[in-house]
Amino acid sequence: MVTSSSRNWQLLKEKVSRLISEGEKLRKIHPDVYYEKARKWTPLKLILLMMYVDIYTKIMSKQRQKYQKMFYIDPLAGSGINKIKDTGDFLAGSPIISIVFARPLFDKYLFAEIDKKYRQALKERLKHLLSQERFEVHKDCNELLNKVANDIENSKESVHYLLFIDCEGMEVHWKSMQKILSYPGDVIFVFQTNEVWETIHRWRKHKTADSFFGNNDWRNATTPEDLLELYKNRIREVKTIEGYHRELIDDITIKGGRGPGFFHYNVIFATKKTRGGSPWYFKFIEYAKKKIEKYTGDAIKIALDIINGRSQQLDWFFPLTRPREPRHRTLNEYFP
Ligand SMILES: C[S@@+](CC[C@H](N)C(=O)[O-])C[C@H]1O[C@@H](n2cnc3c(N)ncnc32)[C@H](O)[C@@H]1O
Repeated sequence: MVTSSSRNWQLLKEKVSRLISEGEKLRKIHPDVYYEKARKWTPLKLILLMMYVDIYTKIMSKQRQKYQKMFYIDPLAGSGINKIKDTGDFLAGSPIISIVFARPLFDKYLFAEIDKKYRQALKERLKHLLSQERFEVHKDCNELLNKVANDIENSKESVHYLLFIDCEGMEVHWKSMQKILSYPGDVIFVFQTNEVWETIHRWRKHKTADSFFGNNDWRNATTPEDLLELYKNRIREVKTIEGYHRELIDDITIKGGRGPGFFHYNVIFATKKTRGGSPWYFKFIEYAKKKIEKYTGDAIKIALDIINGRSQQLDWFFPLTRPREPRHRTLNEYFP
């Protein structure tokens, strides 16, 4: 018997295989252009993105009466390909994941990338995956956010978006965030917790902090975690034009080493609490915390192996039942 869970398993396997083969093909376009600062813990945020895109597109495609259009917004998009400094592995970046893991595809893909070489390579790479009218590649992240907010405002059809913000530091201004957040959509925000702290305390870039947080409350923070909480609260405060606040805001910690003081970043997730209580969201967060936060070291290795086609151990990250294998006792059904 083919269960929905074994179908999901099969589909995910296909998506990962496609991600690997597309990644290999796309690398050949501008072969010397790739994002060079990726580290061995980079794939974990991308695995979280895969999981979210997979669930999000499935759920939102059933809500076409309420939201006629589904946008993917990636204002810090990179070149489409990353090279991991520590291992030399190549891996497809967020723009490619957002296409391969979406089923169905988003109606519109909106990217920005400041680096000219990256932007050009990204455009060429995207042409192989999407029709020209389905995507736009802009230059500046803040300009993109403002433009998309205006597009949504003027759209005759109602739009819901998934916004993936993959910061290196504090590139995105709160003003642009506030504007886009006032429209309905889910957010995945890579908050560079250590980097933000260092930028403020070591490099003393206080004006940058003011525009990132939109006020100077960051001055009251005594730890990097205070800064993270402050940002989560800023997101929580914004009321959308539909009158709701994003009440479900969590984060997953990803560490770049062991012990106190080691580099880490946090991936923030923000969504609306639905009438049904959004059980898929709680399962997603619970599972991500269990697998990624608790076992970051193992998770890094497995993620690298999966993304490079060296392993099919997908059930480490996805709470799926592998066909013809013993059922897991908990969280063994796929989220929705
Ligand atoms: C962490 S990388 C993105 C990696 C990408 N998400 C991926 O998965 O492959 C951040 C990117 O943001 C770009 N960037 C930095 N400042 C920017 C700005 N103001 N507007 C647009 N892109 C910017 C950098 O050039 C870099 O490629």
